Amino acid sequence: MLSKYKAFLFDLDGVICDTAKYHYLAWKRLADMLDIPFDEEANEAFKGVSRMRCMELLLGFGNRTADQEEMVRLANMKNDWYVEYLHEFNRSELLPGALDVLEECRKRGIKTAICSASKNAPIILSRLEIMDYFDAVIDGNKTTKAKPDPEVFLLGAKELGVNPTECVIFEDALAGVQAGKSENIYVVGIGKPENLPGADIVIDDLAHLDIDSLLNT
Ligand code: BG6
Ligand code: MG
Repeated sequence: MLSKYKAFLFDLDGVICDTAKYHYLAWKRLADMLDIPFDEEANEAFKGVSRMRCMELLLGFGNRTADQEEMVRLANMKNDWYVEYLHEFNRSELLPGALDVLEECRKRGIKTAICSASKNAPIILSRLEIMDYFDAVIDGNKTTKAKPDPEVFLLGAKELGVNPTECVIFEDALAGVQAGKSENIYVVGIGKPENLPGADIVIDDLAHLDIDSLLNT
């Protein structure tokens, strides 16, 4: 049976690979340096959110403000640490089921795109050696509006030559779920249902994806 879904749009951090822990470590290091309270629970709000917005949130946790130049300096410091943590990054950091789903997409002719807020997506994809599994990569270098704005997903659908509603989004962040649902796109949440209200279904990871039943939805 022909499915109405022609393309899968994947968020990267927390869906394809386990980068969230390195983002956390780098923000935590900056928070400690600035004496701002920050823990894993607070870090949930950083998922799917652009680097500069995370910077604003972090300063907010400490009731601090900084001018634009200082914010950029601090965010660059965080990013340098993050990229340093990625030095050892390799295929072992792929999340369960990610490679199987990507291979299945190739077998079934389902188009694929990365739709991520991260400006580091190219480094990560190359370290994971999975660039060839994607027909398009839309990342933080190509977007002007951060999730929950749907721009990244609309650009992904456009680059793949399909209508947004012919896509399925895979997202671990609430901001990403909201972005997808604002355009009425089917969203598979990755993680815990309580963190992803609004998603059409929520699964622990891509290893729990039933592609046949999804395509027949
Ligand atoms: C998202 C992450 O994918 O990318 C966020 O979930 C992160 O936590 C954002 O802040 C931006 O990433 P980067 O690599 O450009 O700092
Ligand atoms: Mg994510």
